[in-house]
Amino acid sequence: MEDQAEKLREIVKRKKDGSAKGSSSSKGNVKSADKARIITVTSGKGGVGKTNLSVNMALAFARLGKKVIVMDADLGLANVNVMLNMIPKYNLYHVIKKQKTIREILVETEYGISIVAGASGFSQIANMGEEDRKDFISELDSLSNADIIIIDTSAGVSSNVLDFIAAADDAVIITTPEPTAITDAYGIIKIIATEYDSLNVGLKLVVNRARGAAQAKGVADRMINIAGQFLNLKVDYLGFIYDDVSVPHAVIRQKPFLVVDPKCKASICVQHIVDRMDRNKPGESAGFGAMLKRLFKSSQHENNVV
Ligand SMILES: Nc1ncnc2c1ncn2[C@@H]1O[C@H](COP(=O)(O)OP(=O)(O)OP(=O)(O)O)[C@@H](O)[C@H]1O
Ligand SMILES: [Mg+2]
Repeated sequence: MEDQAEKLREIVKRKKDGSAKGSSSSKGNVKSADKARIITVTSGKGGVGKTNLSVNMALAFARLGKKVIVMDADLGLANVNVMLNMIPKYNLYHVIKKQKTIREILVETEYGISIVAGASGFSQIANMGEEDRKDFISELDSLSNADIIIIDTSAGVSSNVLDFIAAADDAVIITTPEPTAITDAYGIIKIIATEYDSLNVGLKLVVNRARGAAQAKGVADRMINIAGQFLNLKVDYLGFIYDDVSVPHAVIRQKPFLVVDPKCKASICVQHIVDRMDRNKPGESAGFGAMLKRLFKSSQHENNVV
């Protein structure tokens, strides 16, 4: 933790010196990503619906008039662009190799959202070193002109994923009602609690592929109680998404289900989730700059508990 805080302190210093790569402050009238709300979507188990939630949530926010970027931060098996049937020329591989900036690889979609494509099939990137990871996170700062940045991560716990959670205003943890998915989701919550015991990221739970509201609420209540009791960690229940055949149908057509079938159960659920998030804005502690400050505080007051 101290090591990490040290690196982030350096980033802040570089920002203050005005020498941060891709800093938006020098780019005239563009809005700073400091004000963008960063939402990281993560899970313990793979295949539980992160990419579907990220993309469709982005669309729902866009329909509320927000400028939204989805970043595919799965650095091993990218799939946001596959889900949208796009083959961007450049992706995060080029950013990590320092051949392009994130702004340069940003592409607009036909759905009113922009995406940053992930890097598929480069396992060495998924395991990049700490220095490169920090440089990469600091690049987020250059995603100016966005209201919302949704980061779709890979499943499970890696240093990359933890960085993206630390960078977030809201960390959305997604599970299904399956015991294996619940156990793995609890696992990631526990690691967040251990790594960042005084970090003020809003942890939010979504139960995907539920039979109905009652089943989902049961799953959520159990997890939230255990997190509160054993980890002293507050997790909010954000909502659920029905197990809905419209989802795999849309995936096969490589279009968001919110576009293919806006009235299907899954679409309505995502709209509810986004309405709830929009009502509960993170306030003053939002954005990249605030995240760095939070990390500072957490390293200075190691003994504080959220
Ligand atoms: N609400 C749902 N109803 C029915 N099927 C769903 C639902 N959500 C997800 N699925 C199915 O699960 C598959 C995996 O979803 P998705 O790719 O979003 O998961 P993921 O968590 O991003 O996976 P990975 O960990 O591999 O990145 C989808 O292709 C779809 O078939
Ligand atoms: Mg995915």
